Amino acid sequence: MSKTSRHPGEGSAVEATAPTLGATAPTLGAGSGLPSAGADTRAAGHSAQRWLSWAKGGVFLFALLPWLRLVAYGLTDRLGANPVEFITRSTGTWTLVMLCVTLAITPVRRLSGMVWLLRLRRMLGLFACFYGALHFATYVWLDQWFDWASIVHDVSGKRPFITAGFAAFVMMAALALTSPRAVVRRMGGRRWQRLHRLIYAIAVLAILHYWWMKAGKNDLAQPAIYAIVVASLLGARVLWALRRQRTQALPGSSRSPAKSDSTVSRSRTR
Ligand code: HEM
Repeated sequence: MSKTSRHPGEGSAVEATAPTLGATAPTLGAGSGLPSAGADTRAAGHSAQRWLSWAKGGVFLFALLPWLRLVAYGLTDRLGANPVEFITRSTGTWTLVMLCVTLAITPVRRLSGMVWLLRLRRMLGLFACFYGALHFATYVWLDQWFDWASIVHDVSGKRPFITAGFAAFVMMAALALTSPRAVVRRMGGRRWQRLHRLIYAIAVLAILHYWWMKAGKNDLAQPAIYAIVVASLLGARVLWALRRQRTQALPGSSRSPAKSDSTVSRSRTR
C-alpha cells in the first residue's frame, strides 16, 4: 500500500492529509506548475509525518503504562492481598478503557476536525486486544490453572458474564488478526469494514460482561458510567448515519447512493 492509500481503519487519504496540508495546498502542488508551492506542500507533508510519528510514539508509551505498572507492582510485591484479583480487574478495566478510547476517535474527530486522530485508531484497538488477551490469560492461567473442563463450563453459560466476555474477546481477536495491511488488501476494503463493525457488538458485550459481574455484587455505579459512555459513542454514530440517510434521500441531493457506499464515506461513520 502506498503512503497515500491509508488503512481503512485510519480514514481515507483525503481525510488524513487535508487539515495538515491545508485546503488549497494539493491543488497548487498538483497542476499549477508552481514548483515552490509543490516544495512547500512536500515540506508540510514531511513535518506532518514527523509530528504524527511522535504522536504515535507518545500514545504507544502512554497505552503501555498500565502494563508496565502491573509488571513493576509484580516485581516489588505490591499486587495486594489477592494478586490474581488485582491483575484480572486491572487488565479488564484497561481493556474496556482502550475500547472506549478507540470508539471515541471518530466522534472526537468529527466534532474537532482533528483528522489525524484516525491514524491512532488501529494502534489503540490493538492495545484493547492486548489488554483483553492479558485479561483472558490471567483467567485461564492464574484463576483457573488450565482447568479446561471448568473453563468450558463457565464459557458455555454457567457464568453468563464470562460467556459475554469470552464472546467479546473472540471477536476482538478476529479484528486484531485482520488488522495488518496485507490482510486488509487481501480482504478488500468493504469486506474488511463490514467485519470491523463487530467493534460495536464487542462494546455492547463488554458492558454486559461488566454489568452482570457487578450486578451479582449489587455495585452498578461504575458499569453504569461505562454504559453511558458506550451508549453515547454508539448513539452519536446512529444519529449521524440517520442524518446522512435523510440528506441523501432529499430530492436533488448531489450525494448519490454509490458515493455514500464508498470507503471514504464509510470510514466517516466508524
Ligand atoms: C472485551 C473483553 C473483556 C472486557 C472489556 C472485560 C472487562 C472486564 C472488567 C471491566 C472487569 C471488572 C474489573 C473491576 O472489577 O474493576 C472484568 C472482570 C472479570 N473478567 Fe473480564 N473482560 C473481558 C473479557 C473477559 C474474558 C474473555 C474473560 C474470561 C473468559 C473474563 C473474565 C473476567 C473475570 C473472571 C473477572 C473478575 C470477576 C471478579 O472479580 O469477580 N473477561 N472484566
